[in-house]
Amino acid sequence: MSLKEFDLTGRVAVVTGCSRGLGQVFARALAEAGADLIITSRNIESLKPFQAEIEALGRRCMPWACDVRDQKSIERMAEAAFQRAGKIDILVNNAGCNVRKPALDVTWDDWNLILDTNLRGTFFVSQAIGRLMIEEKYGRIINIGSVTSVNGYAGLGPYGASRGGVKQLTMSLADDWGVHGITVNCLAPGWFKTAQNAVMYEDAEWVEYLSDRIPLKRPGQPSDLRGAIVFLASEASAYITGQTLLVDGGITTGAVRALPKRDRI
Ligand SMILES: NC(=O)c1ccc[n+]([C@@H]2O[C@H](COP(=O)([O-])OP(=O)(O)OC[C@H]3O[C@@H](n4cnc5c(N)ncnc54)[C@H](OP(=O)(O)O)[C@@H]3O)[C@@H](O)[C@H]2O)c1
Repeated sequence: MSLKEFDLTGRVAVVTGCSRGLGQVFARALAEAGADLIITSRNIESLKPFQAEIEALGRRCMPWACDVRDQKSIERMAEAAFQRAGKIDILVNNAGCNVRKPALDVTWDDWNLILDTNLRGTFFVSQAIGRLMIEEKYGRIINIGSVTSVNGYAGLGPYGASRGGVKQLTMSLADDWGVHGITVNCLAPGWFKTAQNAVMYEDAEWVEYLSDRIPLKRPGQPSDLRGAIVFLASEASAYITGQTLLVDGGITTGAVRALPKRDRI
């Protein structure tokens, strides 16, 4: 079955942080739905294999080096993307980082790295691309949040502050730019194994503990994110803006046992 509201043929998407991990999951899904891509990360060489994969699908794909901690680099990327494609319809603010540490060990530089990348980067990439979308009177901005956008976790203070900020920023930008035909939403993945958190998945006991706390009883897989990104990037979500869609197997429901042992299934 295919619904035309989900078709992205003729759309152009910028996806940041595409050298590995979830950025490639999001970009691949958009390309398979029909979109041409501008893919970015700090090192253009690291994007080349993925560029080839996307072009093999029959889509146009331009790699571009962009550091989201550098305003000039962001502006150059937006300009190059516009020069190449003539318009940008979709932006996925995926580039991000984390430093996993006890709160007492977090340094000033750790804080700046995380907040500058995840929150300031998301705002200024949105500003640079939003400016172009306003001209077109159309846009879909998808900010990548996290379960830490809505819940607190020990060891993830600065990261959670950045992701909570991304959720709030999403609501504000939705109000700023709704009048221009631009929707701004936040896609918040739960726990997905990638380079960023691989160290956690080396501990089988922890994976069992995590899985038990998730109502659907497993960590996320790349295929779990594909429908959500295409939905938020497409006409199918035309009347949805400022929202955070958690794709987390239900862990943010609370997931604490509230029945005595004898009543558990
Ligand atoms: N994995 C999860 O379970 C999970 C859950 C919720 C949210 N997230 C968020 O989803 C996004 C992707 O996660 P992931 O697990 O795929 O992370 P990852 O494997 O660490 O990939 C992060 C991507 O962001 C790019 N990046 C980092 N700093 C950058 C900068 N200053 N400028 C431009 N690009 C930069 C990296 O590219 P280069 O290093 O090559 O420049 C890389 O492509 C992140 O924002 C992450 O916080 C992940």
